[in-house]
Amino acid sequence: MKKVQLTETVLRDANQSLMATRLPYSDYEGALADMDKAGYYSIECWGGATFDSCLRYLNEDPWERLRKLRKNLPNNKLQMLLRGQNLLGYKHYHDDVVEKFIELSIKNGIDIIRIFDALNDFRNLGTALDATMKYATKNTIASGCISYTQSPVHTVDKYIEMCRELQKMGFQTICLKDMAGTMSPNEAEHLIKGIKDAVGDMPLILHTHCTTGMAYMTLTKAIESGIDVIDCATSCFSGGTSQPATETMFYALKQYGIETGLDEDIINKVNDYFKPIKQKYVDSGRINPKSLATDAQALVYKVPGGMLSNMIANLTDMHAMDKFDAALAEIPQVRADLGYPPLVTPLSQMVGNQAVTNVLVGERYKNISKEVKNYIKGEYGIAPAPINADLAKKVLGDDKPVDCRIEDAKRTGEDFKNAKSALGDLAESEEDIMSYICYPDQTVKFLKDRKAKRENEAVYTIEEM
Ligand code: CO
Repeated sequence: MKKVQLTETVLRDANQSLMATRLPYSDYEGALADMDKAGYYSIECWGGATFDSCLRYLNEDPWERLRKLRKNLPNNKLQMLLRGQNLLGYKHYHDDVVEKFIELSIKNGIDIIRIFDALNDFRNLGTALDATMKYATKNTIASGCISYTQSPVHTVDKYIEMCRELQKMGFQTICLKDMAGTMSPNEAEHLIKGIKDAVGDMPLILHTHCTTGMAYMTLTKAIESGIDVIDCATSCFSGGTSQPATETMFYALKQYGIETGLDEDIINKVNDYFKPIKQKYVDSGRINPKSLATDAQALVYKVPGGMLSNMIANLTDMHAMDKFDAALAEIPQVRADLGYPPLVTPLSQMVGNQAVTNVLVGERYKNISKEVKNYIKGEYGIAPAPINADLAKKVLGDDKPVDCRIEDAKRTGEDFKNAKSALGDLAESEEDIMSYICYPDQTVKFLKDRKAKRENEAVYTIEEM
């Protein structure tokens, strides 16, 4: 019987897409016993923005959250999303930091590490992959992930070549990550058939979003074309900027005789658990009705929804909304000049802001942002296509672009030493040190609060006695 498995994203991507990753662990702990029995391929529960959000907004230790998830989901594969050499942030870390981060992630309970790079510069995945294999348990899976985008250089052949490369590197599965939800059913069909022919038995995963309304049609075609795993969210946390619904896909696939391995009663019970939680955040305004709606503009403008709303906010602040159409028209030019980067964070913001600047200044690239300059200098990796020669000359002069990998490869131990001395007795574990390296300010605040809380508790206990 044909089989398609589902990854449940409610704890990570649905949470991130619909409510800015503000779901505290305590809200969903009660669902974990059922989720553990549901029969998912995996539960995506960590990484992405969850780490930052735990420290910055929720006063939670992200590592402790992971250990609790591990304890309460003993029978499921726990999955995280990792930005390659950027780990969970936006800058390149040194190889010794990347390696330690992966070691600790596996030690604290992660099974599947889905690793991507915003530019699909696969050199930025190598260290994370090697570390995953080095610290792998019998349950560990290194999943190579491609940031999906459309451009004249992003052809089916190009994607097939990327998949071959990921397979050659040693990844065990491949994921196509359509972060903007712009992959059409037609594109999915050609891509997945082509990739499946090229990589043989290697499991292929599709991650998409409902943002533009394409997702259910795209998943249908992907399944017909041989996809092995799809990402879905329990129905009350599905749709809009989130994933398609778990139960809906279950019922649709069941009629075709496609085995998902899901337990019907339990996936419905999981959704019942999350319904009042969703309602609570709709009532508080944390879940904006806008994020639950379909927005097809991304298909018209080839610009992800989040990037559009960011541009509108910037132009409104500058009282320049009359320049909106001109700025929108400028985006394809800027993107082409920069070698067609996928419009994913942080590239989406960089391209959007540069387009706005070009239009407001009235001259193309008279002002170039620091981030775009660094991109042209090669600090983010290699662009998918050559950068416009005049623009490159303007930024680089006679210099050559830097090789970011040379800087990344420095294993001096300095980052650990500096973090230890900055934290002093606030740090109690390697995990605390790692949190500091990733998010220094938030971690100091979190660890100070933790220390104060413990001291208060200690006083309280002595008085009690
Ligand atoms: Co996503």
